[in-house]
Amino acid sequence: MPDLLSPFTLKGVSLRNRIAMSPMTMYGSVDGQMDDYHVMYLGARAAGGFGLVFPEQIAITPDGRTTTSCAGIWSDDQVEGHRRVTNIIKMFGGVAGIQLGHTGRKGSEVPPHKETNAQGGWKALPPEHPDGWLTVGPSNIPAGGDHSYPVHALTVDEIKALHRSYADAARRAADAGYEWLEMHFAHGYLAASFFSPLANQRTDEYGGSNRNRARFLLEALDAVREVWPEHLPLTMRLGSDDFHPDGTQFEDSIEAIGWMKEHGLDLADLSMGGNTDDMRDPHFFDEPAGFVPRATRVRREVGIPVATSWNLGVPQTADAVIREELIDIAMIGRPALSNPHWPVWAARELGHPAPFDLVPADWRWWLENFRGHAPSIGLPPTPAEVAEAALAPAEEATAA
Ligand SMILES: Cc1cc2nc3c(=O)[nH]c(=O)nc-3n(C[C@H](O)[C@H](O)[C@H](O)COP(=O)(O)O)c2cc1C
Repeated sequence: MPDLLSPFTLKGVSLRNRIAMSPMTMYGSVDGQMDDYHVMYLGARAAGGFGLVFPEQIAITPDGRTTTSCAGIWSDDQVEGHRRVTNIIKMFGGVAGIQLGHTGRKGSEVPPHKETNAQGGWKALPPEHPDGWLTVGPSNIPAGGDHSYPVHALTVDEIKALHRSYADAARRAADAGYEWLEMHFAHGYLAASFFSPLANQRTDEYGGSNRNRARFLLEALDAVREVWPEHLPLTMRLGSDDFHPDGTQFEDSIEAIGWMKEHGLDLADLSMGGNTDDMRDPHFFDEPAGFVPRATRVRREVGIPVATSWNLGVPQTADAVIREELIDIAMIGRPALSNPHWPVWAARELGHPAPFDLVPADWRWWLENFRGHAPSIGLPPTPAEVAEAALAPAEEATAA
């Protein structure tokens, strides 16, 4: 039976455990480049034991970024920065994954730690702002919320050009040393908006039926599959449910993932649609393992390995959903920001016999052999150590 710490092999790639650092936009780029900032935080997560490490969503075109502080891979001169990132992840035992995406209607924003809108949400910039641009989508329908500025509805020629950009980005990603590629088809970004009837009201072959709304995604997948090495995993994160009666329906997602499997998809990472702020009962936001039941349905009904995120930060929860074979990989987001050594902590919490196997060998030697006052090593005591400490005075009292 697998558990959170067991290795996982997909195609020609083996992860040391089932723990992935989920892609998280960091707003730390200048001119779309990866630099010291990215080497620092991604290297730290690899050294902290994550099996698979994703940087943020990486834009395939400049207008596919969320903000002008986000990273991309639309040009050959960006490859070197990515290579620094993949090198450090590999140096510390991780597999480097890249999430390729285009933000579509949800681009042209301000980093939220710099400024939010009046409701405390993401602030969009108008096209004429120096850090803004005209966003694109399947139809000229703004995303809602703060995104009220005009949206350019893509022509078929522009769609084909974007698919070429996906392929060029994938070729650069392989060149930079990434060994796992996830297409970002979720969270209201361009691909998710093509898939959602809330955003896509086209009357050509890219709109209407489920097959037509999935066409943009399938063609992007085909374009990438053609250039991405066959022995490396090709996966995607799907905006599988808008939690709205007029939006993406989960049943449609199951059908579309079946088509993607026929087109060479190796794993499905399930997430929310993100095409409307008006979600009805988005329980997954605050429930432990809230997206797991949907991921499990895909695993069983489509017969494909699955990953998911959303509230898997309690190690016992993440471990249970792997042990019960409900999902194959746990995507860890916010907990990876608060604790770069989350996998080591999780391994200790779960009673793993050698949690420090996850850190570099020289650190491990010290942590295993130079313990002194054990509680002072900087990690909370394991449940077994707590139980032992609770028993100790009672034993002394009995002896006396
Ligand atoms: C700061 C931040 C940035 C994020 N950026 C991305 C992103 O670039 N791509 C993506 O697919 N999800 C993104 N997400 C969502 C996370 O990958 C993850 O799915 C979500 O946080 C739920 O997992 P968690 O409960 O472990 O945090 C982001 C989340 C956070 C907190």
